[in-house]
Amino acid sequence: MYLLIPAAGSGRRMGSDRNKLLLPLLEKPLLAWTLSAARAAQSIRWVGLIGQPEDFQDFKEIVVSLGMTKMVHFIQGGATRQESVYRGLQALPAVAQRVLIHDGARCLITPKLFDRCAQELHHCPGLIAAIPVKDTIKVVEHSTQQITRTPDRRQLWAAQTPQGFEVDRLTRCHDEGVRQGWEVTDDAALFEQCGLPVKIVEGEETNLKVTTPVDLAIAEFILRQRGQE
Ligand code: CTP
Ligand code: MG
Repeated sequence: MYLLIPAAGSGRRMGSDRNKLLLPLLEKPLLAWTLSAARAAQSIRWVGLIGQPEDFQDFKEIVVSLGMTKMVHFIQGGATRQESVYRGLQALPAVAQRVLIHDGARCLITPKLFDRCAQELHHCPGLIAAIPVKDTIKVVEHSTQQITRTPDRRQLWAAQTPQGFEVDRLTRCHDEGVRQGWEVTDDAALFEQCGLPVKIVEGEETNLKVTTPVDLAIAEFILRQRGQE
């Protein structure tokens, strides 16, 4: 299976002066945890690491330290996640039929979840890892700050990555997104907009996206727990 890792963000909400994926988490940079999980997943053979040029030197050192130089290919990212993934798709080898996309910032993913998604992707054109929502979610009118609706929680799932797709179809959805000016925060949204089916694979509660400083503290706690098991 081919894997693209979007890692070309700046980590604005982390409030750090560099890409949050280079911040230390226990003894390693955050991105090293994500890459280690990809290395340990039996289904993953090829990794496209999507980054900004100023981070490539640091990324290379991580890749070398993990002994993944043969497996990892560097791809220049864009101004948005959507653009970064689009560039990643264009950099895939022509033989790639299916691809998993996994955010570099979801550094607690397990190899098992990669493998389950890869397995399932042979039976459907598109899928995402997701978990049932625990909170009651409110739809709020921005200007008045008034609640307009409370959707039935049983229908709500929190989207995670990996997200997996047939390469041709996802590329065409991205093309359409550019033509129509769609702005989305995940790839499933493009697939959905084009009327294509996306299946849910049960994700992992610990597969959190490190976004703000508190996430980093939670991630550290979870990794320490794992170490003790
Ligand atoms: N990403 C990317 N290219 C971009 C923006 C984001 O590849 N132009 C990647 C990030 O590196 C991250 C993933 O997409 O692994 C999810 O994005 P997010 O958590 O929003 O990370 P950042 O954009 O870096 O953070 P922020 O939005 O707080 O600036
Ligand atoms: Mg972002």
